[in-house]
Amino acid sequence: MNTEPRTIVLITGANQGIGYAVAKGLLAHKNYFILLGSRDASRGAKAAADLDSTGEFVQPITIDVADDASIQTAANLVASKYGRLDVLINNSGINNEIDILIEQHKKQQEGAVPHPELVDLDQQRKLFRDVYEVNLFGAAMVTEAFTPLLKKSTAIPARIVFVSSHTGSLGLRVDPSGAEYAKWSRPSFPVYRSSKAALNMLTLHYAAKFHDKGWKVNGSCPNLTDTNFARGWVKGRPASESAVNIVRLATLSIDGESGVYSDEKGVVPW
Ligand SMILES: NC(=O)c1ccc[n+]([C@@H]2O[C@H](COP(=O)([O-])OP(=O)(O)OC[C@H]3O[C@@H](n4cnc5c(N)ncnc54)[C@H](OP(=O)(O)O)[C@@H]3O)[C@@H](O)[C@H]2O)c1
Repeated sequence: MNTEPRTIVLITGANQGIGYAVAKGLLAHKNYFILLGSRDASRGAKAAADLDSTGEFVQPITIDVADDASIQTAANLVASKYGRLDVLINNSGINNEIDILIEQHKKQQEGAVPHPELVDLDQQRKLFRDVYEVNLFGAAMVTEAFTPLLKKSTAIPARIVFVSSHTGSLGLRVDPSGAEYAKWSRPSFPVYRSSKAALNMLTLHYAAKFHDKGWKVNGSCPNLTDTNFARGWVKGRPASESAVNIVRLATLSIDGESGVYSDEKGVVPW
């Protein structure tokens, strides 16, 4: 397969949800070659084949962002097969707090006391660790592992997109008017929110680090989306709509922005 004249994109966590929709959106760009990341090889192979049965535009790649050996294996594979990466989309993300919330809700329905007197610190620490492993450490390690390949990019400019969330915005959290995003100021999901707030600082870090190279490094807020992420507990919009801004950032030209946090309506405060 000749990928020489094409833009090579890696999307993590693209076997379903928003990542899959981003891959689909990028398919419209015929000069793009998509490496569809999945932590499970068979789920990745199925998703890639569903998008492109020819394998000419989409190829699956196994990458578990919580596992350094898996990340390194994926980077080695891209190095040996393609010799470079042009665009990295750090999309993988989890919010295990939703499961706890659903469990609590269920217990409430059954008449159990909703707020136990004792907090299970082991459980709390595990929750932080699990979510940060994927949302923050995973995105950081993937970016580190693929930086040498992005340095070999033939695309002008190379691009990195961090898929964040409005819920991680400190600006929206403290907005006194609460006008547009009042719903985000509820005291919910501290683990998920803080992982995304930290991811936002990481985005700015890499934007500054690669500024002189002209790379475009940005964060995107998908908004509430109907994927497995929310476990059907809340209703969101279709993943195709949340993919629009991520696809835009992944295909930015040299005049495009860098170090910006946005959704499809425009800039979002950090
Ligand atoms: N849905 C929303 O309302 C919403 C809102 C704002 C931001 N976001 C963000 O959007 C991104 C995509 O979420 P989504 O809604 O598309 O969720 P999703 O449908 O649950 O998809 C998440 C993807 O991440 C993958 N993933 C989980 N752990 C991983 C790991 N250790 N290594 C590699 N991949 C892993 C999942 O793989 P498996 O299929 O193997 O589980 C899946 O492919 C996330 O960063 C999320 O925080 C979502």
